[in-house]
Amino acid sequence: MSGTLTIPANELGPPAASLRPSRVRISASSPAEPVVYCEGPRVYFRPLELEDEPLLRRWINDPVNRRYLLHRPPLNAAREREFIESQGKTAADYTFGVVAKQGDRLIGSAGLHRVDPVNRSAVLGICIGEHAAKGRGYGRETVRLLLQFAFEELNLNRVELSVLAENWRAIRTYQKVGFVQEGCARQAHYRGGHYVDEYRFALLRSDWAERYAADSPRNGESD
Ligand SMILES: CC(C)(COP(=O)(O)OP(=O)(O)OC[C@H]1O[C@@H](n2cnc3c(N)ncnc32)[C@H](O)[C@@H]1OP(=O)(O)O)[C@@H](O)C(=O)NCCC(=O)NCCS
Repeated sequence: MSGTLTIPANELGPPAASLRPSRVRISASSPAEPVVYCEGPRVYFRPLELEDEPLLRRWINDPVNRRYLLHRPPLNAAREREFIESQGKTAADYTFGVVAKQGDRLIGSAGLHRVDPVNRSAVLGICIGEHAAKGRGYGRETVRLLLQFAFEELNLNRVELSVLAENWRAIRTYQKVGFVQEGCARQAHYRGGHYVDEYRFALLRSDWAERYAADSPRNGESD
């Protein structure tokens, strides 16, 4: 498939049988075939569509997801549609639908926000909203694919993010792909009856190159 971004399988650690790349097949003559913006071995990114609105609204309002997201207010259908319709209008924001190739299911959304053309930086956001899809490596692959897009397609130099100190699943994901903790805003959020620290992480293009340039299959993954 030409024109798509693909994480080589050898950059994802030793592939289990189920992790082997299985390319999404596209036939230009069939409108029913998936729309693929870029792809990894097990997920691909596509534009968000208005038809996705009910799922996205469910995920963003879900108490379990919301506990870890920095966004607080409830989002109704009108606001969610507005968000989807705003996509693609500016080069400062790239939000994708994340689709698991297995079953061709939308499992979440992820993106690069506040893309700064002068400082060559952006803020990464991710929500694997479907609970059944969590803890199965999709989050890590999604972050890797976003980073590859950030550095190799948008020519960024820095990708940063904020994460609640209680969000161990996310922290583990970011650390695994090489994000470095740069700071801690103490008691920055109030959640579940107590204050929670906010950690700031970032990954530079040089970190990425150092970590993923070599050919070793295990390069880039540390336990
Ligand atoms: C955070 C999130 C992106 C992680 O994606 P995921 O697909 O669930 O995570 P993965 O399967 O890729 O796992 C990544 C790592 O976290 C670990 N992990 C999974 N569940 C965990 C848990 N409950 N506690 C601690 N670590 C956990 C995994 O074991 C894996 O580490 P390993 O390779 O050492 O085993 C996803 O769960 C999500 O979107 N959650 C809801 C919204 C959110 O928190 N967004 C991030 C806001 S900053």
